[in-house]
Amino acid sequence: MVGFAGFKDTDQKNEIYISLLAIDPDYWKLGLGKELVFSIFNIKQETERLVVVTRRINEVARQFYAHLGFTVSEYMHPGYNPHKYIGYEWSKDVK
Ligand SMILES: CC(C)(COP(=O)(O)OP(=O)(O)OC[C@H]1O[C@@H](n2cnc3c(N)ncnc32)[C@H](O)[C@@H]1OP(=O)(O)O)[C@@H](O)C(=O)NCCC(=O)NCCS
Repeated sequence: MVGFAGFKDTDQKNEIYISLLAIDPDYWKLGLGKELVFSIFNIKQETERLVVVTRRINEVARQFYAHLGFTVSEYMHPGYNPHKYIGYEWSKDVK
């Protein structure tokens, strides 16, 4: 195994929260992270919006999400400290 992702429904219709995402560093920058994120559409075609939170200091993840077309969002997952974490979202309509 070289990577994994976890997804959860949120309380908003057709919105999915990316709860986990990690690729083995030996396999970074090969497109696997992107493929995993968008693999949600193979499972739930009706998905319209993806949301995620990442540590503000996690520059790699922040650049990754920006490259995928995510934008900074007001979204904050329950239990996460907005001073340490930042929300990102991706919407099908704007792609
Ligand atoms: C974030 C992570 C999943 C990215 O996985 P990856 O397989 O290397 O990413 P991809 O190869 O699919 O890259 C997709 C895009 O992001 C960009 N990207 C990836 N890593 C980057 C980096 N370190 N700096 C700048 N851009 C980066 C790629 O250039 C690519 O852009 P493009 O489509 O315009 O060419 C991986 O770095 C990781 O597992 N990090 C540690 C765990 C983590 O932070 N998870 C996210 C927590 S929410």
